[in-house]
Amino acid sequence: MLIRMRRLRQKPALRRLVRETHLTLDDLIYPVFVVEGHGVVQPVQAMPGVNRYSVDTLPRLLDRVVELGVPGIILFGVPDTKDDRATAAYDPDGVVQRAVATVKACYPDLLVITDVCLCAYTDHGHCGLVEKGVILNDPSVELLARTALSHARAGADMVAPSDMMDGRIGAIRELLDAEGYVHLPIMSYAAKYASAFYGPFREAAGSAPQFGDRRTYQLDPANVAEALREVALDLEEGADIVMVKPALAYLDVIRQVKETFGVPVAAYNVSGEYSLVKAAAARGWVDERALVLEMLTGMKRAGADIILTYFALDVARWLKEA
Ligand code: PBG
Repeated sequence: MLIRMRRLRQKPALRRLVRETHLTLDDLIYPVFVVEGHGVVQPVQAMPGVNRYSVDTLPRLLDRVVELGVPGIILFGVPDTKDDRATAAYDPDGVVQRAVATVKACYPDLLVITDVCLCAYTDHGHCGLVEKGVILNDPSVELLARTALSHARAGADMVAPSDMMDGRIGAIRELLDAEGYVHLPIMSYAAKYASAFYGPFREAAGSAPQFGDRRTYQLDPANVAEALREVALDLEEGADIVMVKPALAYLDVIRQVKETFGVPVAAYNVSGEYSLVKAAAARGWVDERALVLEMLTGMKRAGADIILTYFALDVARWLKEA
């Protein structure tokens, strides 16, 4: 037989030579939850292996992140006080702002990204201000921009708005520029879907909406043309990196965003995707390591340049062992 596809599959070294997609340490961002208090390392029940850290216990985690060579983290704040104006989100002395300063003091070269949203800071748990049951857009954007600026002032290397309000990228870009942060990049959660895969995160961040759902601002899982319009708009408004979220059920969206725009694309391997694997692995139903590496390789194959994942530290370890 002239052509036998199996010839190049016979030896590990040959398979390495013809491998088309490579998952590397350079691709990974590790999400970290920071809470108020002292000496706190609190497990998140729905996400085995994930903890919430107070600012003083953060350095121990950072030691591991740096030792494993993961290039960056994304911080999520879990404040003690919530109100209808999300005041703690843009407090210069807020939990994220202090966490950023701590990271930068310990490890100046570790990339610190901050999630910019209001949902963990509002008493109703929505990503924007609420009036008579309606999630307001423009007044929310103003507060989101203030929040992003407070993160920049604390020393963040990049801000990542995850709220899905219209016009927020432009507003954040304008305010950052006006305040002298012209080189601070924005990673936009551009194609963020109204997904059931965020369930475990809402326990971790205490950000579940107290009424209704997020379908008046996040994308309908059935839509892809609309996602491309969101991405186009965010790029026009100045986004430097665009994200698709969740990842696993949206690989086609990742692919289309990459092919259409050719810009750096991030994929968020979200909490529910993590917990599903953990739950099955705990029962011995799947091989966790093989499954995770396969999932993340699939995201890269689809076109993701960057993967935000709660598995980042495990993956870093596995890649080192390999
Ligand atoms: C905040 C935000 C969410 C996630 C990241 N930023 C939750 C949501 O929109 O409800 C989800 C992350 C995850 O599930 O891992 N807006």
